[in-house]
Order: sequence, then C-alpha cells, then structure tokens
Amino acid sequence: MKTRVIAIDGPAGAGKSTVAKDLAKKLKFIYLDTGAMYRALTLKALRRRIPLDDQKALVSLLRDTNIEIKSQKDGRLSIILDNEDVTPLIRTNKVTENVSYVAKMPKVRTIMAGLQRKFGKKNNIVVEGRDIGTVVFPNAEKKFYLDADFKERVRRRYKELKEIDKNIIETKIKRDLKERDTKDLTRKVAPLKKAEDAIYLDTTNLTIEEVVQDIIKEING
Ligand code: DC
Repeated sequence: MKTRVIAIDGPAGAGKSTVAKDLAKKLKFIYLDTGAMYRALTLKALRRRIPLDDQKALVSLLRDTNIEIKSQKDGRLSIILDNEDVTPLIRTNKVTENVSYVAKMPKVRTIMAGLQRKFGKKNNIVVEGRDIGTVVFPNAEKKFYLDADFKERVRRRYKELKEIDKNIIETKIKRDLKERDTKDLTRKVAPLKKAEDAIYLDTTNLTIEEVVQDIIKEING
C-alpha cells in the first residue's frame, strides 16, 4: 500500500505542532513530530554527559537508542525514549537550549531522516519539522511552510511557556527565539528553507482552525 505524507515545515512558534496534530486527527493520519526525536536524543546525550560536538559519540548513541512516538486516545503524543516516557522532559529549557547542537550533525540527521522515512512507509502521516519538504520527504503529497511575524511567534511561545513556568520573561523568549531562528536558518546541513513546491501560509492573523481548514482545502484540491 502506498502511504500518504503531508509535510509541514517552518520556524519555531509558527503553529506547526498544534496545526499538525489537529490536521492529523481530522485526516485520521498519524502525527510525526520530528523535533521531538532530536530532543529525545539530546536528553539522552545530556544525561550521559556526551559532548554535543562529538558526532561519532552521538551517532553511536543514536544507534543504541529506541525512540517511539505514541499517539494517545486524546490526540496527545507520548515520546518514549528506551521504554521511558520522556514527554515533559524533552521540553525543558536545558534540552531546548542544546538541541540545535545535535540537530546540526550531518550523520545524526541522516539516521533520523531514515527513521522518519521508515515510519512514513508504514503509516499515513502528517509530519512536521524543518527539512521535511526539502530533504526527508521531497515527494510528499502536499507540502506546507507555516510562518508568522516574529512578534506573534514570541507572543505564542510566551503563552505556551507561561503555563509551565510562571517566572518566564518575555525578553528571554525573544532572545532564545532569535537565536533558534538563526541556528535553524544558517546551519550547513538541511537548514530551514521553504521547498519550492511548498504552499506558504502566514498564520499571524489566523486561528488554528482557519489554518487547518486552509490546509484541508489544499489537500482536497
Ligand atoms: O520543533 P522543535 O522546536 O521541537 O525542534 C527542536 C529542534 O530540532 C530545533 O532546534 C530544530 C531541530 N529540528 C531539525 O533540525 N529538523 C527537524 N526536522 C525538526 C527539528
């Protein structure tokens, strides 16, 4: 059976996760959060005190790692790292601050892309990341590039993080997001880039529901 792949890329805070999750539910596809895979590996590397600039060690760690993404009945995802549920742990500041070192390693990316393609061969998926339409699934059925004004992305992140950490300050979020944008856009391997055939959606003034509906319209052609 040929499976179906819907690719969603874009910068942090553009609404990818919420949109992808909701879209997958509506299409009855499986949602694949590729950022969570890089985050899970980063968590394991930090725990083992593996230097994040040591590609060889990271590759060998990844080869010895089992990352599973499980959808719960309520649509939420659980990220299972070697049989341990690490869902909240991969969203901590420590992981967020360090994940780009792991994500910029070419050999790590090659293995991750292989795992993602394998998953896409078995399931109909809505897959979200930075290089999905350009590198991982260049032949995806439909590709979307979600974007939003920087100010709006900061506002969304602030709202999201405020629920986890009441003391979070907006200036720090602004600084972190700017830094992440720069790293995602300028890394040598698979930088964040709109695929030529991706549909560009500016979500600044749209609700999640509106974005999902726009995407569904495009898919149904
Ligand atoms: O989407 P996110 O914030 O969970 O992504 C975490 C990090 O992983 C972020 O620094 C970008 C990187 N990433 C990537 O390089 N390629 C992907 N396909 C997904 C995420």
